[in-house]
Amino acid sequence: MSEKKGVILSGMRPTGKLHLGNLFGALENWVKLQDEYRCFFCIADWHALTTAYEESLNIKANVREMVLDWLSCGIDTEKSVVFKQSDVKEHAELHLLLSMITPLSWLERVPTYKEQLQQPEGRNLATYGFFGYPLLQAADILLYKADAVPVGEDQAPHIEFTREVARRFNYLYNQKVFPEPATILNEYKLVPGLDNRKMSKSYNNVIEISVPPEEIPSQVRKMITDPGRIRKNDPGNPQICSIYAFHRIFNQQELSKIEAACREGQIGCVECKNNLSGYMQSYLAPIFEKRRELEKDPQAIDDLLAKGSEKAREVAAVTMQEVRSAIGLL
Ligand code: TRP
Ligand code: SF4
Repeated sequence: MSEKKGVILSGMRPTGKLHLGNLFGALENWVKLQDEYRCFFCIADWHALTTAYEESLNIKANVREMVLDWLSCGIDTEKSVVFKQSDVKEHAELHLLLSMITPLSWLERVPTYKEQLQQPEGRNLATYGFFGYPLLQAADILLYKADAVPVGEDQAPHIEFTREVARRFNYLYNQKVFPEPATILNEYKLVPGLDNRKMSKSYNNVIEISVPPEEIPSQVRKMITDPGRIRKNDPGNPQICSIYAFHRIFNQQELSKIEAACREGQIGCVECKNNLSGYMQSYLAPIFEKRRELEKDPQAIDDLLAKGSEKAREVAAVTMQEVRSAIGLL
């Protein structure tokens, strides 16, 4: 336990139940990192509020659903600190203090900001809070002096931005308060959605992590295969088939066999799908069972979170003393 390599922090916005894209794009990596690093996993509910401020009443339920998914997939509160951002007010204080030294131009050039503003969703995102999103994220990371942050590629500019803010703070106040966190890119696994686009809540094409095992075959049947295959013995191209992309994740051991059989038209798509469903069921059923157990005791989840937030606050308080002192507020 004490031999851990360094501190890791990562987070997710609570948007409700997670899907297989979240599992293989992030969560699976987090679970692995727990043994090597001292991990902090942040439920970024204030970040959710930067865009969903009109639907704020959903956030609480979304937090609970997300924690259930985290725990049932193997995030272990004995090994890692799992906490809710809004329980640790130091995030807000650090965000404020960092805002004093952050040039507007740095925030303006963050790509996610520019992209989001252009999305025609009808939400007004020209807000002060949304503009500061990456700085709030920087505060999340720096508060725990994280050495590294495991994220998907889309978040890499935010970690780069965090490094710049850390450097500027250390330089201005002439003390090495913050380490510059490294980016750990999550191992990339392609997870297509039911319609063969990237799996994403906004495309409405997801399979939830908590899908009941008996519903897996009907979901898999909806997935798109090589559209060029009409008859069972037409030669197929697995590279354009989302079923094959899933075999890659759930059924490594038979991959080359399936590829050959598909290319030679020796296996029908129905059979190939049934085969996949079986593997998905054996992978996801234990997660489902564990979640069902955890769901029975909502109080226990609240207690776990309260304890996690307590631990997070202890660490945050120490950093904030250093920060206030470096600035000269003490
Ligand atoms: N912005 C991240 C996302 O949308 C979520 C997040 C909030 C985060 N705080 C973080 C990720 C700190 C890494 C570190 O996915
Ligand atoms: Fe896809 Fe399998 Fe059909 Fe080939 S046989 S197109 S891999 S579902």
